Amino acid sequence: MTIPHPIPYQGSKRHLAKKIAPFIPANTHRLIEPFVGSGALSIYMAYHHIIHQFILNDINAPLIHLWDSILSDPIRLIKTYTLLWHNQHGRERRYYDLIRTRFNQTHAPYYLLYLLARCVKASVRYNADGHFNQSLDNRRKGKHPETMRREIMALHQLLHNKTRLYSQDYVRVLQLATPDDVVYLDPPYVGLAQKRTSRYLQTIDEARFLKQLEWLNDKHIPFILSYDGRTGQNQFHHQLPETLNLTYVELEAGRSSQQTLLGRNEITYESLYLSPSLIKKLNNAIIPTQSPRQLSLFEEIA
Ligand SMILES: C[S@@+](CC[C@H](N)C(=O)[O-])C[C@H]1O[C@@H](n2cnc3c(N)ncnc32)[C@H](O)[C@@H]1O
Repeated sequence: MTIPHPIPYQGSKRHLAKKIAPFIPANTHRLIEPFVGSGALSIYMAYHHIIHQFILNDINAPLIHLWDSILSDPIRLIKTYTLLWHNQHGRERRYYDLIRTRFNQTHAPYYLLYLLARCVKASVRYNADGHFNQSLDNRRKGKHPETMRREIMALHQLLHNKTRLYSQDYVRVLQLATPDDVVYLDPPYVGLAQKRTSRYLQTIDEARFLKQLEWLNDKHIPFILSYDGRTGQNQFHHQLPETLNLTYVELEAGRSSQQTLLGRNEITYESLYLSPSLIKKLNNAIIPTQSPRQLSLFEEIA
């Protein structure tokens, strides 16, 4: 079985999960993802039997309903997706628009799965009225129902009896964290948040977010933060306050598909920040704590 990813999702960390995983201490009781999206890191950790308990949260309620369907009623979800997928043939455009309207009326999780499988870049976009408004991607047909069935069942097996789901603002879910957990934070990009795009239902306020990081440090709750990135010369690197005492790691994320389309051959990098209590758990002897700096030792640890 390969690692299942039934929820197509722009911003998914599926290609980075294996590079983030070694920063999670072996004896971690529980992984908490307050910005779970498609949950690539949790899926990776469950697949490799590294962690056995998860708290997954996202402000996007239909997305969490989709997670709930996968974990508690996968057969029904598979049947409906199969029906929707077959019904689209020969009238793809009209059918997609119809399902999008139905989703905006009902917020039903099976409609969201179909839309994510068929929309441009698997990108969740809502307009100012909170209506999903992403268009159809004409070049793809969406994941075949048989592949979808296999992936949904595999994810169900991995997480159904190990996971608590929430759809709250991340600040509320952080209240559940203890020093025995690791919190993985993958918020929407700050750059986009400042431009007030409708990429997600809600964008995060940076000052409020930094206050939460401080709070996590005060409570000695270990956390890993994915924040910004850079492609070639385009820097999105974002300095976080030194008082947070975070250790900076730069991860090579491979080639950016956008850059490849533009004929450029540039590597994308993603920034990761490790909290002081996480570093302590990981063993100061292996990972130096000067901050910020790139950890070239990382590949050897993995
Ligand atoms: C970059 S994506 C996470 C991607 C995820 N790591 C994955 O592998 O798919 C950020 C997520 O944060 C969610 N989000 C945005 N604002 C939020 C908030 N205030 N509280 C909780 N979740 C939020 C979005 O709905 C989105 O799914």
